[in-house]
Amino acid sequence: MQSHERAVMRVLAGEKLERPPIWMMRQAGRYLPEYRAVRAQAPNFLDFCYNTDLATEVTLQPIRRYGFDAAILFSDIFVVPDALGYPVNFEEGRGPVLEPLSIEQVEKLDQARTMEHLEPVIATVKRLRAELPTETTLLGFCGAPWTVACYSVAGHTTQDQVAARIGSYKDPALLTAFIDQLVEASITYLVAQLDGGADALQIFDTWAGVLDDIGFEQWSVGPTRKIVEGVKAQRPSAKIIGFPKASAARLKRYVEATGVDAVGLDWTVPAEVAQEIQKIVPVQGNMDPMRLVAGGRALETGIDHALDVLGNGPHIFNLGHGVVPQTPPEHVAEMVKRVKGL
Ligand code: CP3
Repeated sequence: MQSHERAVMRVLAGEKLERPPIWMMRQAGRYLPEYRAVRAQAPNFLDFCYNTDLATEVTLQPIRRYGFDAAILFSDIFVVPDALGYPVNFEEGRGPVLEPLSIEQVEKLDQARTMEHLEPVIATVKRLRAELPTETTLLGFCGAPWTVACYSVAGHTTQDQVAARIGSYKDPALLTAFIDQLVEASITYLVAQLDGGADALQIFDTWAGVLDDIGFEQWSVGPTRKIVEGVKAQRPSAKIIGFPKASAARLKRYVEATGVDAVGLDWTVPAEVAQEIQKIVPVQGNMDPMRLVAGGRALETGIDHALDVLGNGPHIFNLGHGVVPQTPPEHVAEMVKRVKGL
């Protein structure tokens, strides 16, 4: 089967299918016992991302178990700063810890080493395309520069990114210098993913929603547009899904200004907003991942609501954000069955 014939690709080209194709953000993850078993073999999370055998295996696990219509490359948004030479660490129970941003750190970044460093990830993409069922879409991804930068300004995960916002106001030149490097490396990395066999790409902007109007333009829209333009300048047929989380009121602006081909909706996006956006681009989403934890009636209601609201236009069924570790795997099977009408 050719890339454009795969269900997710047909929706990204604007087609409305009888039943939406389905995949889940973070579908390769700790809610699956088989993931935890493989993960135990690689104590260091970044080493795990760079291990082609292990990364291929965990990417395939949810496809085997559930038959999702898309596989997302197993990697992380922090491989890009890591490849540039920015100090990144994953600490058990704490998540990613990045060295605080400084001009000295930014000056040390080296675009020339990026692709060599990311070669194992591209090898994973190639392996995946060879091993996936022919009808399964392969998605590559990167983090949006603002979201990547949030963790380096704060140094760790925070709730509302107070440190990153203060940093962006106090020293916009420093943040710009870092983001410019991330934009350039992300373009190179995404083009390599396409060339390796990824059918389409997603840009994760998990922290877009904490920004004010000025910041949203400057730090989310601007860099994302540069990445979209940069990738499309080299690969004009590339399809790119943007995911600016918690940005319902700004989705229209985001879609029109960045040039993304489709947009991911989180669960707080109101039906009317989602339907307006769907007149402009295909949409992906948007059930609350906690309904998948709860199961039962709450799960059924959430699925049916998303299908009702988004069912009249091009739609890829997904959660409104990543599946969480406490999700019972059998709830995922029930969701797939119901979405497929089985
Ligand atoms: O299945 C997939 O979706 C593909 C792989 C993937 C991971 N991270 C693997 C991962 C993808 C697409 C991401 C994206 C990512 N990573 C984002 C954007 C999307 C989002 O979820 O908001 C962000 C902000 C990150 C950064 C990150 N990576 C954090 C904050 C953490 C720690 C929090 C946590 O869930 O533990 C990670 C670690 C991480 N990345 C895990 C996985 C499966 C869990 C780590 C483990 O297995 O120990």
